Amino acid sequence: RENYKMVLKEMNRTAAIYFNYLLTATSAGKHALEYYHDRGFSDETIQRFGLGYANIYENDLYQYLKKQGYTDAQMKDSGLVRIDERRGGQDMFWNRAMVPIMDINGKVVGFGGRVLGDGTPKYINTKETAVFDKSHTLFAMNIARRSKRRGIILCEGYMDVIAMHQAGFDNAAASLGTALTMGHATIVKRYTDEVYLAYDSDGAGRKATMKAIGIMREVGISTRIIDLKPYKDPDEFIHNLGKEAFEGRIADAVTGIVFEIDGIAQGYNLRDPEEKIRFTKEAAKRLSALDEPVVRHSYIEAVAEKYKIDAADLKAMVTRYGTIGL
Ligand code: GTP
Ligand code: MN
Ligand code: MN
Ligand code: MN
Ligand code: MN
Repeated sequence: RENYKMVLKEMNRTAAIYFNYLLTATSAGKHALEYYHDRGFSDETIQRFGLGYANIYENDLYQYLKKQGYTDAQMKDSGLVRIDERRGGQDMFWNRAMVPIMDINGKVVGFGGRVLGDGTPKYINTKETAVFDKSHTLFAMNIARRSKRRGIILCEGYMDVIAMHQAGFDNAAASLGTALTMGHATIVKRYTDEVYLAYDSDGAGRKATMKAIGIMREVGISTRIIDLKPYKDPDEFIHNLGKEAFEGRIADAVTGIVFEIDGIAQGYNLRDPEEKIRFTKEAAKRLSALDEPVVRHSYIEAVAEKYKIDAADLKAMVTRYGTIGL
C-alpha cells in the first residue's frame, strides 16, 4: 500500500516534469508561457514551482505515461487520466496552465490547471486520490514551513501564493479551493502560532476569513488580517503596489478579534440604542471566546473605547457569556 502511494507520487512527478517540458521547451507551450509572463511570473518562478502546460490533445499525457511504463489502472488511480470504454485513456487536463501541488515533503500529489484566459471552469484540480487529501494539503507549505519570515500567510489561491513567493514572502501558503479545515490548521500549528490571513477582499473572502479566524483560534493560533483593498487579492495587490506596500499591510494587519468585531459592527446602526445593545451582546460573545484573561481584558478595553461602550458593562456581559458557555 505504501509502495503503491510511492508509484502514484512518482507518476505525478513524471507528469509535472513533462508539463514543465511542454511549457518551457516546445512550441506547443508557447502561448502558455506567454500567459505566465503576462501574469508577471518570471522564468525563475516558473522553475521554482515547476509550472507547466497540458497539451491540447485528448490523450497526450496518457500516451506519455504509457511509454514510461504506467498501467491504465495506475493512471486512473492518479486522477490524471480517465479510462473511457470506447476511447481509452483520456487526460483530465487539456490546454491548461498546470500548477503541481506538493505535499509537506515536496512530493507532487496533484495539480491545479487554469484555463488560459477567460473560460470555464477557471480551475480544475485533481480529484482526491490515495495520495491527495485536500483537507490536509496546503499549497507551498513545503516551502513556507522553512521560511525565516514571521508566521504563515494564508491566501485563497495558489496563483496568489506564487506571486507572493516571487515578491519574497516565502511564508505564504493556500488551501486548495476548499475551505480551511481543522486538518489544515493542525498542520500549520506544527510550524507556527501566528497566521496572517490574506484572503480575497470580496464578500466570499471576508466570510472565509471569519471562519478561518475561529478555526485557528481552536488550535491555539492567533490571527491577523491583511487588508488588500482596493485590490481583490494578494496577486493583484503585489503587481500593482509592490512588496514594500505589502510589508506595510502586514505591519498594519489587525488581530482576528478586532476584524470580527468590526465586521459585526457593520451590521448594526450604532446610533440606535436597541441596535447598539444587540451589537454589544454579539461583541461580548466573541470576546468571551478569548481564553487568555490578560488578552481578553485588553480587547474588552479596546472595544469599549472604540465603540463607546462602558467598559465595566461590557466586561460583565463577557463574563456572563463565558460562564454559560454560549
Ligand atoms: P486568478 O488570479 O484569476 O487566476 O485566480 P485566483 O488565484 O484569484 O483564484 P480565485 O480567487 O478565483 O479562487 C481561489 C481558489 O479557488 C483557486 O486557487 C482554486 O483553488 C479555487 N477555484 C477558483 N475557481 C475555481 C473553479 O472554477 N473550480 C475549482 N475546482 N476551483 C476553483
Ligand atoms: Mn514573454
Ligand atoms: Mn476568490
Ligand atoms: Mn487572482
Ligand atoms: Mn482571487
